[in-house]
Amino acid sequence: MKYTTILAAVATFASTVSAGVTGSAEGFAKGVTGGGSATEVYPTTNEELVSYLGDSEARVIVLDRTFDFTGTEGTTTTSGCSPWGTASSCQTAINLHNWCDNYEPNAPKVSSITYDTAGVLGIIVNSNKSLVGKGSAGVIKGKGIRMVSGAKNIIIQNIAITDINPQYVWGGDAITVDDADLVWIDHVTTARIARQHIVLGTSADNRVTISYSLIDGRSDYSATCNGHHYWGIYLDGSNDMVTLMGNYFYYLSGRMPKVQGNTLLHAVNNLFHNIEGHAFEIGSGGYVLAEGNVFQNVDTVVETPISGSLFSSPDATTNAQCKSVFGRSCQLNAFGSSGSWSGADTSIISRFSGKNIASARAPTNIESWTMKNAGAGNL
Ligand SMILES: *[C@@H]1O[C@H](CO)[C@@H](O)[C@H](O)[C@H]1NC(C)=O
Repeated sequence: MKYTTILAAVATFASTVSAGVTGSAEGFAKGVTGGGSATEVYPTTNEELVSYLGDSEARVIVLDRTFDFTGTEGTTTTSGCSPWGTASSCQTAINLHNWCDNYEPNAPKVSSITYDTAGVLGIIVNSNKSLVGKGSAGVIKGKGIRMVSGAKNIIIQNIAITDINPQYVWGGDAITVDDADLVWIDHVTTARIARQHIVLGTSADNRVTISYSLIDGRSDYSATCNGHHYWGIYLDGSNDMVTLMGNYFYYLSGRMPKVQGNTLLHAVNNLFHNIEGHAFEIGSGGYVLAEGNVFQNVDTVVETPISGSLFSSPDATTNAQCKSVFGRSCQLNAFGSSGSWSGADTSIISRFSGKNIASARAPTNIESWTMKNAGAGNL
């Protein structure tokens, strides 16, 4: 009874922080308000959606339908290549900006590819926006979204982004963040994407929280030709702090996530499930603290060699060192039918000093909870 009252109080407080949005961000993007208390708008056409997202008003934009961009910019026919094999389950690369010629000169050529032009470049989302789906109705199909060029204070919650040229690498990303700050991506589902499900570009992306989202890697076309999408989450950037919390990463084969540049990553209570390939790839400048995650049927938990730094919360004694900065011990990760990892770089802990740090639970029950609650339509 008492517990219910507290939850109700939290919900009331949250709704005054930002209309249309449920709850508030934990971790690095804590304090994000998006469109704040702006009156909700309900776009009914693609044009209206693009206009609301891109204008300079603070807005709460509610999606109560599917916005399908497939075909809206026509198709493009060009050449490509098959660096990953020519089987029907393999992705093909578009020779975009001569990528095939420059980087895969020995790959079999594909003389003619026709892809959907709208997929290549996502919709611009300007500062001070909340983009939220109603129930399970909010879907953007055939085009992603981009928070770039100084965009700040954005909430994306409870929507799905789907079906962006899944057959063709370079056919488009679902969510791009590059040169931005205070971005919260929550309860978002991405499925059947050409390239990255989520990419943080090489500019400073500052404070980002990605929580309770579903990266659904099931696809008929894959760079690993095994039905598992390779291009999961790519965290690059010159000054990035990213909280990955409570997400469900399903059926991928790589970059889940890839971390480099100058990126501090707190990966907490995520479920990595059925990864036929690798989950983490940690390049130079990637600082990863992972705790309370569950790895179930994950072939390779982290690619080797690790060029960056990893604190994998290896054992209770070492995890107690988190107390000095986190005010608590770090949580162990859990592994079922999975590979393992070891990373005891405790110097990462001090990098969290003075920052907003997400809470963490022991990995018990994370698996069943995440399967039921992560992604769009599960708020
Ligand atoms: C976003 O809101 C803040 C606070 O109201 C304001 O200072 C800033 O100019 C807004 N940004 C844009 C691009 O409108």
